[in-house]
Amino acid sequence: MSDPLQQWRDALQDLGVFGLVPEPQEEPEVPTVQAPAEQPSPKEDRVPIAPSTDPAVCPPLEAVASTASLDLLKTCIQDCLACPLGAGRIRFVFGEGDPTARMLFIGEGPGRDEDLQGRPFVGKAGELLEKMLAAIGYQRQDVYITNIVKCRPPDNRTPTPQEAQRCLPYLRRQIELLRPGVIVTLGATPLRELLGVLTGITRIRGQWQRLEMLGGIPVMPTFHPAYVLRQYTQDVRRAVWEDLKAARAWLDQHPK
Ligand code: URA
Repeated sequence: MSDPLQQWRDALQDLGVFGLVPEPQEEPEVPTVQAPAEQPSPKEDRVPIAPSTDPAVCPPLEAVASTASLDLLKTCIQDCLACPLGAGRIRFVFGEGDPTARMLFIGEGPGRDEDLQGRPFVGKAGELLEKMLAAIGYQRQDVYITNIVKCRPPDNRTPTPQEAQRCLPYLRRQIELLRPGVIVTLGATPLRELLGVLTGITRIRGQWQRLEMLGGIPVMPTFHPAYVLRQYTQDVRRAVWEDLKAARAWLDQHPK
C-alpha cells in the first residue's frame, strides 16, 4: 500500500477512529504542563539502590555519564550484568530511532521478540505502536523508542524496582543525549520508575507530567500497546490516539 493518506486512514480506523477526513485540522490546544500530581510517598522498595561499582559487572556511572553519543553509550553499557536480567538475555535492547527525534517513547522492557532481535517493540505490541504512530503522522524512524530496562525480564514479567533502578542511569543518559521535546510513557512502569508517579495508568493517562531533567521535559502518559491489544475497545484506542495527538501538538507548537 503506497497511498500515505490511505495508510493514515487505516491507522486511524485501527485506533477506533472513524469518519475522520484527513484535512488540516483546527489548531490543537496547547497542553499545560503541570507539575506531577502529589503522589503517595514512595514505598521503601522504591528508594534508588546504589549501583554496583564493579567494572567487571557494569560500567562505572562516571563512564556512563561521560559518554558523548548514543553509540558510545550503547558500547559502554551493552555488556552490563548489574542485575539478574543481564545473565538471562539473548540480546541487549538499547533502543533505536532517529537520534535527533523530538518524541521519545519509553516502554517497560523487551519481550521475547525484542530479546531475539535486539530491537525494541518489534513484536505484536510494536506493530500496534507503529499504527499508533501512523495515526499521528509519524513513522517509526521519525521517533526514538526505548525501554525502562534493556534486558528481557523472564516470562515478560514487570521489572522489579531494583532492576529498573539499576538500569535508570542508562536511560537518563540516553535522555540527556537525545534531548527530546516530549516523552510518551507507555503503561504504568515507565511512569513509576522514571517519574516516581504511582497513580494507576487508567487515571493518569492523558494528563501531562514533567520530568525534571534538562530544564523540564513534558511527559504524556498513555496505555501500553500490549494493554491496548488485550482491551481492544474503541474507547481505549481512541484514548491512546488523543494522548498521542496531544504529544504531537505540543511539539508542533514548540518548534526547536
Ligand atoms: N513491550 C515493551 O514494553 N517494550 C518492548 O520493547 C516490547 C514490548
